[in-house]
Amino acid sequence: MASKMLSTVCVGLLITVTFGLPSDFKLPQPKENGKQWALLVAGSNGWYNYRHQADICHAYHIVRSHGIPAEQIIVMMFDDIAYNKQNPNQGEIINQPGGENVYKGVAIDYRGKDVNPKTFLNVLQGNEEDVKGQGTGRVIKSASNDNVFVNFVDHGAPGLIAFPTEFLHAVDLNIALDHMHDNNQYHQLLFYLETCESGSMFSSLLRKDYNILAMTAANSTQSSYACYFDKTLETYLGDVFSVNWMQNSDKSNLNSETIDKQFHIVRKETNQSHVMEFGDLTMNKLMLSAFLGYEQDNHIVLNAPNPNLDAVPSEDVEIMVERKLYTMAKENNDTAKMDESWAKITDITRKREKTDNTMKQIISFVAGDRNFQEQNAMLMGENDLFKHDCYGPVVEYLKDTCRDLDLPSNRYSLKHLRMVVNLCERPYSKDAIFSAIDKACGLDIITFA
Ligand SMILES: *[C@@H]1O[C@H](CO)[C@@H](O)[C@H](O)[C@H]1NC(C)=O
Ligand SMILES: *[C@@H]1O[C@H](CO)[C@@H](O)[C@H](O)[C@H]1NC(C)=O
Ligand SMILES: *[C@@H]1O[C@H](CO)[C@@H](O)[C@H](O)[C@H]1NC(C)=O
Repeated sequence: MASKMLSTVCVGLLITVTFGLPSDFKLPQPKENGKQWALLVAGSNGWYNYRHQADICHAYHIVRSHGIPAEQIIVMMFDDIAYNKQNPNQGEIINQPGGENVYKGVAIDYRGKDVNPKTFLNVLQGNEEDVKGQGTGRVIKSASNDNVFVNFVDHGAPGLIAFPTEFLHAVDLNIALDHMHDNNQYHQLLFYLETCESGSMFSSLLRKDYNILAMTAANSTQSSYACYFDKTLETYLGDVFSVNWMQNSDKSNLNSETIDKQFHIVRKETNQSHVMEFGDLTMNKLMLSAFLGYEQDNHIVLNAPNPNLDAVPSEDVEIMVERKLYTMAKENNDTAKMDESWAKITDITRKREKTDNTMKQIISFVAGDRNFQEQNAMLMGENDLFKHDCYGPVVEYLKDTCRDLDLPSNRYSLKHLRMVVNLCERPYSKDAIFSAIDKACGLDIITFA
């Protein structure tokens, strides 16, 4: 009875919305003659990171189904998931339990090694010459009347986003955005970022007067969260912030929902990290359609489970997957599979201990091995990042010198970069940190020689 009443009410509402508009009603447009562009990027690879590419495929369908033409959408994703040998459903990617195949129809412009920070920045800034020979060679050719939507999903750390083999530093991203502003390359730009510590990509860097609004999955010091573990696929299907904004967009009328409304809904639903906004907050009053497309979407929305129910911080995904596989194998008395997962758990744990030790060593070399109070402050502190001149070069040096940290792709190691923030903010000098890194990782080589 209640549900029948509810559905009657919904139908009534829909009719009002669809047919209640005056005949001369004109949907809002970005600006006269303005176009809408979307740049969708998943910056990771590997089966454990299935969810990042799943999110981006889903985002593709949102902007397409709301009317942004395919030629104004650019997709960067490694593309190793749909046909991964671990994928039992070859050619398919889903973004929620029992969900539809979101890989279908996605036109990928840059895949494999072309998914890198330099190419991303060139595509964003419309530098066609600089991407010649890569992927489709397409770039965002936005002009001063156009609106641009950027959705980026990946691993992160303080002040950076991790591509498969390289870092994108916060400073470089913000320089690119400044450059676009100075060259009149957009009317308004909306940036949705799902990475750990995503707030740190914009906090204290993104200008408030450049018509750019950024929404991030987490603040400057927090992880972002994966969700929807799938027993058959043996991986997580989505990320909490991404799933929340996209499921909201799938359900809503984007011509009547403001960015602000979506922000508040998603912030409430993403309850383990703080969804944040940076830049020009006056853009909050704009309708989502200004960036995601003006057409009504007719596609059917499946009811999805609450993503918070099995959410895990990004750095724990690998170990959680193996723990779940171990439990499943145990229930099935499959000792071979139990052994396999146990070996992986042991290996991941050993690598984590090694990362802990390496970072502790570096800190003790910088802070002085007797000064435990200082060491503790460097280990546990949660400083905000301002000293980008120190931090950027140091993390690059760390990545190249301490190979066992498995940077940039290992999220557990990425999380430890917060200690580098602490060192730089103290401030210890770059050189002091460099030589501590030499000592810590040089000693490793001697130990194992
Ligand atoms: C981020 O969130 C954490 C957890 O609530 C909080 O302790 C920290 O102060 C926040 N940091 C910033 C920069 O907002
Ligand atoms: C987040 O929401 C889920 C489900 O709604 C709930 O089970 C969980 O306890 C919440 N977590 C926090 C940190 O509030
Ligand atoms: C696993 O083994 C136990 C003990 O031998 C048995 O009781 C249980 O039914 C088995 N479970 C399955 C799924 O085969």
